Amino acid sequence: MKEQKSWQARFSQAADALTERYVESLSFDQRLWKYDIAGSIAHAEMLAEVGLIGKTDCQAIKRGLREIGSDIEAGKFKWDPACEDIHMAVERGLIAKVGEPGKRLHTARSRNDQVALDLRLYVRDAIDLDMTPLLGELQAALVDSAQKYADAVMPAYTHMQRAQPVSAGAYLLAYVEQFERDRERFVDARKRVDVCPLGSGALAGSTLPIDREVVAKRMGFATISRNSIDATGDRDFIGEFLAAAALCACHLSRLAEDLILYMSQEFGFVTIADAFCTGSSMMPQKKNPDVMELVRGKTARVYAALFGMLTLTKGLPMAYNRDLQEDKIHLFSAHDTLKASLEITAAVIRNTTFNVDRLLAATDKGFMDATILAEYLVSKGVPFRQAHQHVGALVAYAEKDGRELAGLTLDEFARVCDRIGSDVYEYLGPANVVERYRSAGNAGPESVREQIRFWKTKMA
Ligand code: ARG
Repeated sequence: MKEQKSWQARFSQAADALTERYVESLSFDQRLWKYDIAGSIAHAEMLAEVGLIGKTDCQAIKRGLREIGSDIEAGKFKWDPACEDIHMAVERGLIAKVGEPGKRLHTARSRNDQVALDLRLYVRDAIDLDMTPLLGELQAALVDSAQKYADAVMPAYTHMQRAQPVSAGAYLLAYVEQFERDRERFVDARKRVDVCPLGSGALAGSTLPIDREVVAKRMGFATISRNSIDATGDRDFIGEFLAAAALCACHLSRLAEDLILYMSQEFGFVTIADAFCTGSSMMPQKKNPDVMELVRGKTARVYAALFGMLTLTKGLPMAYNRDLQEDKIHLFSAHDTLKASLEITAAVIRNTTFNVDRLLAATDKGFMDATILAEYLVSKGVPFRQAHQHVGALVAYAEKDGRELAGLTLDEFARVCDRIGSDVYEYLGPANVVERYRSAGNAGPESVREQIRFWKTKMA
């Protein structure tokens, strides 16, 4: 005979097979099992401490739950879809193992506070065990690469037009900044994850004398939730996780876009090792940056998760609604995707070389020393707006016969502006420019070395 559902008593009909299949979440919330069991053990211990269950019942419950944990780990646990979700599956497994004491576990608890607890534990681990360390590894890869290429000069672009020469290290460290803000956002979100909802019951708490603080402490939470209605209906902590994930994916996607462009023959700035590229089924000569294209492409999944979560919650009346069961789909999808993308991007960075000669060659056309020439004139007392006009005229003049500013003679300079002396040649040309950046945080090699020292100390 089919086992009765725990909520069956007030129903005159069994759930239709369609209903059962439609409402189940076990197929995807299974992965919460560790958190569900840990939460149940803490809950049982608390129930025993306040005298709501006996010590021997508590022992039996804990033994049963631990056995279920090992069964699941060993792949021996029988997942029955009729159980609806992970919470019911574990509870039913427990009752099957230990009998009567198992029926006492759900005292002063609802699946609503239980699932909120499981999810908070899950997100906390996702931040601590995946996001923070993986971001750190990616940053370390970028910093190492920046160190290697601190003296390599490359063109930097605005509007995808050559703008000013920079150290390749400075370019790489720009991404380290972006990923640092991502890391900070996860760490900050964690503060609001780190709140224990257990004991909020279905939404109103319990009339039984439970001790919520004890459970929170056992589970390593910083604090307990203040309001049971909010605690059961709230999923902001998932929204925040996904928002941080979406920005992080955005940064990965921009880095991917750069590497894809830079690997093209047109740029030839970088070489990504063969092990991180794939070929074409038809064109034998092809080596494609598919890994980076997929990092860019998978960003859509992470955005979709954020939008999915926002859409899921926007119309919900206070407090818990079954819609929330779908939160896991978005959470898991973004977590898995971002984790994989962070991992592989760090590996790609470690296996990408910058073609230093190509970078340098790309800086000698495009008048990337025009700005320094204007600033040179400022140092000779020319107002900047006027200096800008002089240099603009010189650029137009040189461009006519395909020359660069450093190729102009002093006579030619003098025809436009009489303040240009022979020392101007110590300013022109990309190599001079990068050495002369002065402002704090500039994109020259000296500043790069200083920034690297900062990151090395911070990351140590
Ligand atoms: N599987 C549900 C979820 O993930 C658990 C909570 C169900 N609660 C309820 N009263 N139906 O949200």
